[in-house]
Amino acid sequence: MSQDIEDFDVGADWHVAAPYDFLRRLRHERPVFHSAHLGAYVLTRYADVRAAYGDPRRFSSRGSLTISRSLTDETRAKLGEHGSFLSSFVANVDPPDHTRLRRSVSRAFTPRAVAAMEQRFRRLNEDMLDRLEPRGHADFVAEIGHEPSIKLTARFIGVPEADEAFVRAHVKDWFQLFLSPQPAGRQLELADSFLEYLDYVDRLVAARAKDPREDFTSLMTALIGAELTHREVVELISTILLGGNDTVPNQLGNTVLRLLREDCWPVPPTMIPNAAEECMRIDGASLGSFRYAAEDVVLHGRRIPAGSLVLLSTDSAAHDETVFPHPDEFQLDRPNADDHLVFGYGIHFCVGAALGRLQLRTALEVLGRRLPALRLEPDQEITYRRSLVGRGLTALPVRW
Ligand code: HEM
Repeated sequence: MSQDIEDFDVGADWHVAAPYDFLRRLRHERPVFHSAHLGAYVLTRYADVRAAYGDPRRFSSRGSLTISRSLTDETRAKLGEHGSFLSSFVANVDPPDHTRLRRSVSRAFTPRAVAAMEQRFRRLNEDMLDRLEPRGHADFVAEIGHEPSIKLTARFIGVPEADEAFVRAHVKDWFQLFLSPQPAGRQLELADSFLEYLDYVDRLVAARAKDPREDFTSLMTALIGAELTHREVVELISTILLGGNDTVPNQLGNTVLRLLREDCWPVPPTMIPNAAEECMRIDGASLGSFRYAAEDVVLHGRRIPAGSLVLLSTDSAAHDETVFPHPDEFQLDRPNADDHLVFGYGIHFCVGAALGRLQLRTALEVLGRRLPALRLEPDQEITYRRSLVGRGLTALPVRW
């Protein structure tokens, strides 16, 4: 790869599609470096990434998700008090706030509650396939990967079926607004969409406060005033909708592409759990997490000044040859595949990890059984969405 070692250009297509030769060089030559493009220091070795996740005192999450640094003044003015959206989201705060928020959120993700979602998710996949199977072809991303996860998350949160399309479109917009750089004009459009969406979530919270049901919104709304603020609940609902609508389907798309290319389709049911872990390791839907250095940190002789933004590159960590031998090789039965850090690590470890895993495994099982002849449309160009923090395909035409 010809990129200069200084040129960690997260806006470039190769950054999401095939960064591994570049990241390998960094791990060997510059395990800690400053990226001008990113305005952040980047940690690339597995041991350093894991240690930083495990040290929230020195690597603070406070404000780390608020990538709204790229918003123009006009966009900020339009957003007003909402310009700092996510400032009280659980992944964006440190203890003691984090401890309190995490305790509240975890109430909704008990092992029992997660296991209870399996049947529903299976049904959603079967229904989708009943409709699509006779056609013999589809775009995996648009037509297969997203729908069951979006519907499951909507039911979990308590979004009525009639509002699903609205929520889906708006979640996509606010993700773009806050988490990927956008031109000025586009920012204003996205800001309008975001404000409409906040209004919607506000109304949902008000409705559940009056008339509670068996859903996440009701559970969290009941805690307003005691454990949580209204804003915290709105931010939780918004981000969990994002987690469910986007990361799991992205991971499923990456996973199916990998399995088809490696000639591993369908995966025998007993192999599915490890196959899912190996796919998360090698083609993670999450590229890493941001932190701020709370004090000067010296690592491998390099000083990271207090206040600097730091990217913990889990994508690089997942390809670290000191932990995963032949890291660029896909091994269905890799013994330590699940040592990847795609769900993070430490106090912010993904609260939806069990639900994410359940969805991936269930989808692979149902899709493998019903579409055993699944294959890629030949001669397609594989392209990814541009993102600082996520890896997701734009499309994946398939046949069966
Ligand atoms: C394959 C799918 C998923 C991936 C790759 C993923 C990835 C991550 C990562 C890397 C973090 C850590 C962030 C940090 O340390 O800064 C995280 C946290 C989180 N995730 Fe996920 N996630 C997935 C699915 C989900 C789902 C399905 C939900 C909810 C329904 C969810 C909700 C959350 C929440 C609320 C946090 C914040 C936890 C905290 O800060 O304590 N995620 N996720």
